[in-house]
Amino acid sequence: MTTAIIGTGVLGSAIARQLASGGETLRLSSADSKSAQMLAAQIAPAAVVADDDRDALRGADAVVLALRFTVLKGVIDQIAESLAGKVVVVPSNPLTTDARGNVSRVLPEGQSSGEVVAGWLPAGARLAMAFGTMSADLFESASNRSPERAVLFYATDNDRAREEVERLIRTAGFEPVKVGGIEQSGRLEAGGDLHDLVVGPAEARSLIGGA
Ligand SMILES: NC(=O)c1ccc[n+]([C@@H]2O[C@H](COP(=O)([O-])OP(=O)(O)OC[C@H]3O[C@@H](n4cnc5c(N)ncnc54)[C@H](OP(=O)(O)O)[C@@H]3O)[C@@H](O)[C@H]2O)c1
Repeated sequence: MTTAIIGTGVLGSAIARQLASGGETLRLSSADSKSAQMLAAQIAPAAVVADDDRDALRGADAVVLALRFTVLKGVIDQIAESLAGKVVVVPSNPLTTDARGNVSRVLPEGQSSGEVVAGWLPAGARLAMAFGTMSADLFESASNRSPERAVLFYATDNDRAREEVERLIRTAGFEPVKVGGIEQSGRLEAGGDLHDLVVGPAEARSLIGGA
C-alpha cells in the first residue's frame, strides 16, 4: 500500500522509517525537498520523493501531515482539492517554539488540535489524529515491542479512517487502540493523560475507560 508523508522532519522521518520497515511504500515531500531526499536515500527503495505536496498524494490512500501546527492550515488549503476521499492522519500537537526554544500552546486550554484541524479539512477528507502521541525517540524505541506490542492511541469519527489508521499503526509496529471520536483527541496531545505512554493493550483499555 502507498502512503504520502508530507513533512520529513523529526517525527515524519521516524514515522517513515517505521512504516517502511513494515513494508509500506511511501511518497515523501517537505518544504524544500532536501530532508525528503535524504530520508528517501536512507530507506530506499521504500520511498520516492514527490515533486510537491500535491504530487505526494498521487496514488496514495492515506496521507500523514507531519507538520508543525503553525503551518498545517496553509498546507491543507494548498492541497485541499486532492484531500477529498483520502484518509488524513495528523500527529500535530498545538504547540509552537520561540527563538529561545520555549514551547507554548497555540490553542486555548480545552480546545484540541483535532477539533481545529477537522474544521480546516475539505468535505470528504477522513481525519484520524494519530502518530503524535509520543516523542519521536520514544515512538521508534517502543515499536515492535515483544512479546506484547505497545499501543498507539488514535481518535477518529470515520470508519474508513479507522480501518486505514489501524493498518498503518500495525505496519509501524504497534497495536492500535481507539480513544474515541475527534472530540477525545485532546487526551492524546502533549499535556493529555494518554500522551507519551508506552503501555500494552490491556492497560490502554483500562486507561481509556478510567477517564
Ligand atoms: N518531534 C516529535 O518528537 C513529535 C512528537 C509528537 C508529535 N509531533 C508533532 O509532529 C509535527 C512535526 O514535528 P517535527 O518535530 O517533525 O517538526 P520538524 O522537525 O520541524 O519537521 C517539520 C517538517 O515540515 C516540513 N514542512 C514545513 N513546511 C512545509 C510545506 N509547506 N510542505 C511540506 N513540508 C513542509 C519541513 O520541511 P523541511 O524538512 O524541508 O524543513 C519539515 O520536514 C508537529 O506538529 C509536532 O507537534 C512531533
